[in-house]
Amino acid sequence: MSDIPIIWILGGPGCGKGTQCAKIVEKYGFTHLSSGDLLREEVASDSDKGRQLQAIMTSGALVPNEEVLSLLNGAITRAKGSSKGFLIDGYPREKGQGIAFEEQIAPADLVLYFQCAEETMKDRILARANAAAVKRADDNEATILARLKTFKDNTNAILEQYVEKTLTINANRPVDEIFLDVVQAIDCVLKKKQKASA
Ligand code: AP5
Repeated sequence: MSDIPIIWILGGPGCGKGTQCAKIVEKYGFTHLSSGDLLREEVASDSDKGRQLQAIMTSGALVPNEEVLSLLNGAITRAKGSSKGFLIDGYPREKGQGIAFEEQIAPADLVLYFQCAEETMKDRILARANAAAVKRADDNEATILARLKTFKDNTNAILEQYVEKTLTINANRPVDEIFLDVVQAIDCVLKKKQKASA
């Protein structure tokens, strides 16, 4: 795994993590693993565990890390033979998650933090919910406020822990403008990786 980049994608609910990841996948062909999507797949299976996860997610709280890390670990193991790099979207969401990932899987090469105003994040989620054919169970005003609070309570500790490999990007801008900064950061990591393996 040390020859391919591992990039953590952080930011509050609705800041545009998934949107930027889709553009990164298009340009670099990386494997995109969203912790939220992996959890929603589990919920869709309608198992007892899925129902428990749904209740936590609808409250806006964090799912226990053993569930999230186990889903991520399984997906990484399945993809790693052919992957060009991993985008770990929405993880870590608290300091302990980052430590567990690096101990059990591999160190992250880069942390991209999309910093965005709360009102903007809220508006983006509500606009997404209005436009969706099937609305996410957590895309309602009350859960959005709870998700924002969970994010605020946990994020500074993560940023302090990974200050040396974190790039904070202003996400209050148009998608393509944000992406220019993303590309610069990823190109830099790819160059470093190439140098290290030469
Ligand atoms: P998750 O699914 O990760 O949701 P989230 O973090 O709240 O983020 P979203 O998916 O809502 O938004 P996004 O940042 O990807 O924005 P998007 O690109 O879609 O997590 C859901 C829940 O799962 C959590 O609350 C928790 O319970 C649980 N969970 C997940 N990970 C966990 C973990 N690690 N540990 C424990 N529990 C975990 O954009 C939003 C909208 O804005 C879109 O319509 C988009 O088109 C638009 N948009 C994007 N960028 C821009 C822009 N620059 N300008 C204008 N519009 C934009």
